[in-house]
Amino acid sequence: MTTIQVGDQTFQLYLSETDISARVKALAEILNTDYQGKNPLFIGILNGVFMFIADLFKHLTIDAELGFVRLSSYQGMQSSGDLHQKMGLDKDLANRDVIVVDDIIDTGNTLSKFVADLQRNYPTARIKVLTLLSKPSARKVAFEADYVGFEIPNVFVVGYGLDYDECGRQWPAIYQLYSNSE
Ligand code: XMP
Repeated sequence: MTTIQVGDQTFQLYLSETDISARVKALAEILNTDYQGKNPLFIGILNGVFMFIADLFKHLTIDAELGFVRLSSYQGMQSSGDLHQKMGLDKDLANRDVIVVDDIIDTGNTLSKFVADLQRNYPTARIKVLTLLSKPSARKVAFEADYVGFEIPNVFVVGYGLDYDECGRQWPAIYQLYSNSE
């Protein structure tokens, strides 16, 4: 079994680079169809989304714009529940097609608050949500993305942009916390 060490934890391979790139390409193709002629604005949630959004953009054939925000509600492996915006958005979203892009939806706290704030500030924006990973069984608030790469169980994952205490983002595959019970 392929394992990696990140900080004080061992992780085992969960989604290979090949699986991820095939799914990212398929998501881009769906967006190419759904957003043909609409020039959507993608808003990436940093830092975890950087690898996913870069790969996604390589497969877009539609006109699209890109912006980023930096939010934080996580420390170590736990969501604190409080949302802090560390880097804001310098775009006008009025009457725009907007796609908020995140790496993973866990409790749902981060995106439900962020998307509600965005919609309140820009009532005419048509906002959809895209996430590479979703953990439906970890939700604390009801929130679903419009586009989901992979639904995964409630396991902590790293790699492909996702971190454990800021480490492990560089791996091209996704790894889950090692469990020797399997
Ligand atoms: P919530 O709970 O607000 O969390 O939906 C969203 C943010 O929490 C981080 N997160 C993770 N990061 N492995 C990580 O590396 C995970 O398994 C994980 N679960 C949640 C992530 O930053 C996400 O945007």
